[in-house]
Amino acid sequence: MVVSHGKKPTLLTPSKKKLAKTDYHQEWRFYGRRVGRQLNTVRKAFFDKHYPALCVPVEQITKSGNLDPHDLFTFTPEKIIFEIGFGNGERLSQHCIKDPSTGFIGAEPFSNGMSAFLKSIDDQGDEFNNNVRVHMDDAIPLVKSLKPHSIDSIMVLNPDPWHKTRHHKRRIINQDNLSLFSKILKSGGSLIMTTDVRDLIQWMVTEATNHPDFIWTAQCTDDWKNAPENWIQTRYETKGAKGADRMHYLHFKRA
Ligand SMILES: C[S@@+](CC[C@H](N)C(=O)[O-])C[C@H]1O[C@@H](n2cnc3c(N)ncnc32)[C@H](O)[C@@H]1O
Repeated sequence: MVVSHGKKPTLLTPSKKKLAKTDYHQEWRFYGRRVGRQLNTVRKAFFDKHYPALCVPVEQITKSGNLDPHDLFTFTPEKIIFEIGFGNGERLSQHCIKDPSTGFIGAEPFSNGMSAFLKSIDDQGDEFNNNVRVHMDDAIPLVKSLKPHSIDSIMVLNPDPWHKTRHHKRRIINQDNLSLFSKILKSGGSLIMTTDVRDLIQWMVTEATNHPDFIWTAQCTDDWKNAPENWIQTRYETKGAKGADRMHYLHFKRA
């Protein structure tokens, strides 16, 4: 389902209240869905319990490009990993447990996905390392807010394929966004992308190899056909999409 929000998108929480607008909530267009089924009372309770403490404060999302992601955490993370479009966040949630010294940032505009993620954080109970911050909206304004060279790794896993040719310009991997990713990544930092959509594999490899700041690390077929060691699979990955090819794991390094 495509929801075009025009030039002045309305940000919706599950309760459909408008959030305060900052100078960033303008002049950008988001294609995708933010609100699906109304959250049930239980899901809404997880949202209300965890989102205020774990969200990147909206006033920090500005055009200044000086947000230091380390300042979002109550400890000093050894690394910062930014996952864009985490869906229901099963992978992100497990990654937070496995890697307590890393600070994670996750962006997902779909409120049902965010609430599923926050439920999994609630399920962690005392095991929760408080090492994740989330943003329930388009990731790009947050990317633009971040300080240059402040991120160790960006993960874009199974992005929306936008199959129709006239919709290809909506694909999140494009030259403009790669330049934004390049700006916030440290030198030698990683851009990890996955997909099982044949046309999108080709698209992402072409876009990233054509970008002057990214180098494909693959040396042989196994490097992109097999999941990296200790990889956490998502539900999407295990079930496979209709008409899907095998999963491809594309690991690029920022020069
Ligand atoms: C096909 S799903 C994949 C979800 C998850 N990464 C996985 O592998 O299971 C793509 C996700 O990207 C999210 N998305 C699309 N555009 C986005 C954007 N501009 N910023 C952040 N997330 C976005 C969608 O809401 C959706 O949940």
